[in-house]
Amino acid sequence: MSQYEKDYPDHTLAPGYEHGDEPPCNLSDNPTFYDVVDARTSRRGFMVGGLAAAATGVFGAGLAASSAAQAQTAPAGSPLLGFKAVPVSEADTVVVPEGYKVQVLIPQGTPIGGSMPAYRDGANTGAEQAMQVGAHHDGMHFFPINGSSTDGLLAVNHEYVEARTLHAAYRGKEVGIDDVVIENNTRVADEVLKELNAHGVSVVRVRRGADGNWAVVQDPMNRRVTGLTPMDIAGPVRGTKHVVTKYSPDGTKVRGTLNNCAHGVTPWNTYMTAEENWAGYFRNADQRDGRPALPREHARYGVVAGGRSRYGWELAIGGADDYARFDASTKGAAATDDYRNEPNAFGWMVEFNPYDPNSVPVKRTALGRFAHEGVVFAPAVAGRPVVCYSGDDSRFEYIYKFVSARPYDPATANGALLDQGTLYAAKFNADGTGEWLALVPGQNGLTPANGFADLADILVNTRLAADRAGATKMDRPEWGAVDPKTGEVYFTLTNNTNRTLVQTDPVNPRARNQFGQIVRWTEAGGDHAAASFKWELFVIAGDAAQSRTVAGRALNADSIFACPDGLWIDDDSRLWIQTDIGESEQNRGDLKVVGNNCMLAADPRTGEIRRFLTGPMGQEVTGVITTPDQTTMFVNFQHPGAGTSRADFAAGKFQSAFPDGAGKLPRSATLVITKVDGGKIGT
Ligand code: FEO
Ligand code: CA
Ligand code: CA
Ligand code: CA
Repeated sequence: MSQYEKDYPDHTLAPGYEHGDEPPCNLSDNPTFYDVVDARTSRRGFMVGGLAAAATGVFGAGLAASSAAQAQTAPAGSPLLGFKAVPVSEADTVVVPEGYKVQVLIPQGTPIGGSMPAYRDGANTGAEQAMQVGAHHDGMHFFPINGSSTDGLLAVNHEYVEARTLHAAYRGKEVGIDDVVIENNTRVADEVLKELNAHGVSVVRVRRGADGNWAVVQDPMNRRVTGLTPMDIAGPVRGTKHVVTKYSPDGTKVRGTLNNCAHGVTPWNTYMTAEENWAGYFRNADQRDGRPALPREHARYGVVAGGRSRYGWELAIGGADDYARFDASTKGAAATDDYRNEPNAFGWMVEFNPYDPNSVPVKRTALGRFAHEGVVFAPAVAGRPVVCYSGDDSRFEYIYKFVSARPYDPATANGALLDQGTLYAAKFNADGTGEWLALVPGQNGLTPANGFADLADILVNTRLAADRAGATKMDRPEWGAVDPKTGEVYFTLTNNTNRTLVQTDPVNPRARNQFGQIVRWTEAGGDHAAASFKWELFVIAGDAAQSRTVAGRALNADSIFACPDGLWIDDDSRLWIQTDIGESEQNRGDLKVVGNNCMLAADPRTGEIRRFLTGPMGQEVTGVITTPDQTTMFVNFQHPGAGTSRADFAAGKFQSAFPDGAGKLPRSATLVITKVDGGKIGT
């Protein structure tokens, strides 16, 4: 294991590091996705240097031909895409197609419960934040009340915080997007409380009024899940030594969920929230012989070696246990004396019932521990296992699948189905096939002799287990989606700027993959529990010169985009794609041509893609869902104005005026999109 005990640099110094990303820490020599593609194209004898030839290779001749034929026979445009594309935008505005209108709903700080404290432009207290919508909206779902399309619960993830837009006390100071104010090596305790309470999930009842606008309903079901909410640990890791802490000596409980990126909805209609870039929230100063000596379950994920954690919560004045736990250094004689194991209680998928405000969230450890972007379930079939997919969003990490041990029974199904089953990691072969590698004791090299004592050990060290099994290193897997009509599974691979020149190949002729791509696959026999699959690239993103759709065409003015991230397929199989170009890259260099982050819709059959929405400056578009009747769409804008420089922040010159106008602190918010004629979104 010594190769995993290397100390990692401060992750803000890692090459190509983007705000909020995990440090790359996959040191295995498994082939990358592009090694595979290269091998595949080379084996078939395609000429090197031509994107068209390479694209034919990766898409697979049969699939490309049939898709192209469909595209050629399709009339003037896909019947699925009934709107006129909006242009690329560099403006600080929201643009939707003709015939659509937008409304801003639940920006950070919107009161939803308790004493309903009004938002005060960053001046609210930490306690008040627990009664308000959190920060940095991300994955989201609409849970209808009695099947309604005008009344329901919005469950919204809150990924992280920008201290400077959260605390009014930071106004006028030269603070950057990642900065927190530390004086005398301490942090103001109420700021730490507010930041913890701005994480997690908001569950908010929203209703459409007679005027067509949506509004928050003050309701007992409204709740905040935060970085402090007590939670249960379930599945194979529950009660093991890995999660024993001073707070939970029997290893069954933990406080809070963090960095809640995307989400999932189970077949039994509960909500799951993903813990993505949680590792940097912890520091561990343990040393051996004067060198950092982090256990592999910290090092392989990027827990900060020495120094302070991302937000320095462990430095809160007063040393309250809620905050001190973010120092995972060994301090006491035993694990019950300190928080050396606290990071092991993070990196999981967390499930709760959004309709029950008293439900205790549960960390489902059988789904593995990594930088979970989200989770997507295959349509459940009675008598068959429950299957879900999850990507590990860090450079060179993996895509995973979980298959339940017990079959799905709609009458009795609940979260316990997720506590027993098999976790697999994906291996993409050069010939367009793929295999699922089981991460279970005794298989794929996961033996005690190789350092994997049992299933709990494998799950706590999921990344290392997938390394050992030989999974394929991917370009930052983000969201997944499953086509309800065909069962095809899609995953966004957002970018990988760490890819070196020697790793370029005909399919990806860029020295650094700045633009990303979307892969899709079909499970063998149409069975989501199958051990193998067939894959192809659905789109290689980029400008017109560097892109290809599944039909073998370049993207054009209506469709160029970069850095696909959010992904969702509606009931008509319209594929919605959301982009996340890092704020420091937007409208610069090679990425300038694609403008601000946007949302597009695609026709899975023809490969046609069309831009539907462009957002204000600095933000990313993330999270999308419609009401059951598809007449209202909810979309999130996260971190508007994130590109504001330190000097401009001090001067009150924010990059974005979204949503409150110039001079007000920018806030993440949900956008409500409807058609003026009341029709279905996208038609
Ligand atoms: Fe939180 Fe990978 O986006
Ligand atoms: Ca994302
Ligand atoms: Ca992203
Ligand atoms: Ca983000």
